[in-house]
Amino acid sequence: MYIRIFLLFLFISPIFLLNAQEEIIIDDIISKLTIREKVAMCHAQSKFTSAGVPRLGIPELYMSDGPHGIRPEINWDDWGYADWTNDYVTAFPALTCLAATFNSNLSYEYGLAIGEEARYRNKDVLLGPGINIYRTPLNGRNFEYMGEDPFLTSTLVVPYIKGVQENGVAACVKHYALNNQELWRGHINVEVSDRALYEIYLPAFKASVKKGNAWAIMGSYNKFRGQHCSHNDLLLNKILKKMWGFDGVVISDWGGVHDTDQAINNGLDIEMGTPSDKSISKRFPYDNNFLGKSFEKKIIEGEVKEAILDDKVTRILRLMKRTSLNKNRPFGSINSKKHYETAYKIATEGIVLLKNTNNFLPIDKEKKITIAVIGENAKKRMTIGGGSSELKADKEISPLAGIKKEFNNAIVKYSKGYSSNINENTNDLKKEALLLAKDADIIFFIGGLNKDSFQDSEASDRKSYDLPYDQSKLIDKISKINKNIAVILISGNAVNTNWKNDVKSILQSWYLGSEAGYAIASILSGKVNPSGKLPFSFPSELKDNSAHYFGKLSYPGDGLSQSYMDGILVGYRWHDTKKIGASFGFGHGLSYTSFELFDVNSNKRKYTKGENIEISAKIKNTGKYDGKEVVQVYVGKVNSKVDRALKELKGFKKINVRENQLENIKIHIPVNSLAYYNEMISDWQVEKGDYIVYVGNASDNICDKIVVTII
Ligand code: BGC
Repeated sequence: MYIRIFLLFLFISPIFLLNAQEEIIIDDIISKLTIREKVAMCHAQSKFTSAGVPRLGIPELYMSDGPHGIRPEINWDDWGYADWTNDYVTAFPALTCLAATFNSNLSYEYGLAIGEEARYRNKDVLLGPGINIYRTPLNGRNFEYMGEDPFLTSTLVVPYIKGVQENGVAACVKHYALNNQELWRGHINVEVSDRALYEIYLPAFKASVKKGNAWAIMGSYNKFRGQHCSHNDLLLNKILKKMWGFDGVVISDWGGVHDTDQAINNGLDIEMGTPSDKSISKRFPYDNNFLGKSFEKKIIEGEVKEAILDDKVTRILRLMKRTSLNKNRPFGSINSKKHYETAYKIATEGIVLLKNTNNFLPIDKEKKITIAVIGENAKKRMTIGGGSSELKADKEISPLAGIKKEFNNAIVKYSKGYSSNINENTNDLKKEALLLAKDADIIFFIGGLNKDSFQDSEASDRKSYDLPYDQSKLIDKISKINKNIAVILISGNAVNTNWKNDVKSILQSWYLGSEAGYAIASILSGKVNPSGKLPFSFPSELKDNSAHYFGKLSYPGDGLSQSYMDGILVGYRWHDTKKIGASFGFGHGLSYTSFELFDVNSNKRKYTKGENIEISAKIKNTGKYDGKEVVQVYVGKVNSKVDRALKELKGFKKINVRENQLENIKIHIPVNSLAYYNEMISDWQVEKGDYIVYVGNASDNICDKIVVTII
């Protein structure tokens, strides 16, 4: 009792804020714990908690998915929903949408808001954000990630983490690493070159640790170079903990642990998701975990040093000190007006206007016209399904509801047109939609993918790049009857847009969460001028994508193993370098206004390592609306001694420019960020010589280039 009060006092006393003291206190607590108690802290005690030590007032850790809202409560020891009535939450837009905003301030706001909801729901660890790199449009989980570019992802993940953690809730960045497809995710062994590893797949994780100070990381399901990533010596011990100095907790993906010795020695701290076994113990059924009884036995018998266990527990206590034992952490809030405003802002800023022939959009909402809304996605709930990111949204405005509210002077009629339900009669649906289309002034076709298995959903990949349920045929048929058609794609992945010439406008609308319908309607009516940019390329055909170009061994592999033969040339790096145009390129996104970008310059022509290249430009809004534009700076090495992408994103700035106004912008690029990973010396190296700086508003729309030299 005495010890318990003493420890609690230490945790909540002000001296606890001092760093060295904190570590001493942690050491002191560890000295008072039994092996049993310490081992129990290193594995699950229920589906989403790990054990504390009640005797000493050490709390249990509560974790929750992530990453778009706080998941409803799950039963203690099975995957059923607990059916609580107080776990309705705000559904924030999917991370692909956040990435498409190209707006770090919004990312911080997102983190802050979701962190507040996590805190309110009493969660210590938020299982997110997800930052795996988009390699193939078939990956079922791309919607939970931030696209194909390591620089964009790194830039946006840091403020998200900071926002979450300001609430005294740990961000658990996932899935580390190379979990770039869902097919065979539990066992596929990924082979990838060091260059691609360090230049493409790891930078966002590194930024999360070194700049975002993430307090937790989730190891992924797949294998890398023969070892499962939740206990992978190279990824966890050598790179994460040693090279990057990560002082937080490594949590396994749920059921991602397969071996006791590796779990002990290869950098894992908390094992989660290994099924319990009541035949071992009714009270402690998770003792069967790899880091359970067998771990304890190895320590007691001297086979494993207790110091290894102590390191894990030190990390866990450190995380607790930052979260549940931080007396200064705020209380959080849920479903607040502010959270919905944040969700709406991100949704509207992330929607991408892909195409807009003759300024078909926006549609004047004062007009007394007939609007035909066609497509299942106009009504389908998208916060349900998709796997662990599924939510119990307190509110989810459907596109149809949003459109009806916004265009209240128009007659809005709805027809489903196609169905994801194979039992529904699609001929009848089609007929009805065509009839509606014939008499309408304009058509909003609202389709895309959904959160069902084999669409945008965890644990399976898409089977085809095409729009499912014969949507392209339907679009084709409708367009023959009525040309005034805008397609609103709801998806977290690129889809085949071989029908794009049949329609006037295309919006890429993502999974937008609670405010989805209002956000889409605001863009359609011009209440908000679109400013989103694609965080990944839309190849014309699947074989134009780098992962698919190299055939089966590259994607999806042979069932056991796969080789990332595309190396560093992922996404637009591939399209640019190989001169394979995409239907819509990375960074592409139109506005209802027009911009002119000119006077591109650099502050010097020659730079040395450690300096910053300052790129300046002027941007003028030459159209009829106020609007935001994303100025993008890509850099490519001329005559490199190694293979390089033609150009890589190294800086960007989103700027609001009022109608007829001109703004000056400056973007800084550290010379060190031009380095490539030299496999010969296992280190980063900045090559001397000439580099081309490309400035534009999309990877495939460069307005000006200048040459700078690194000496
Ligand atoms: C997913 C993780 C998730 C975990 C817990 C796993 O299947 O891969 O992203 O956090 O389940 O739900």
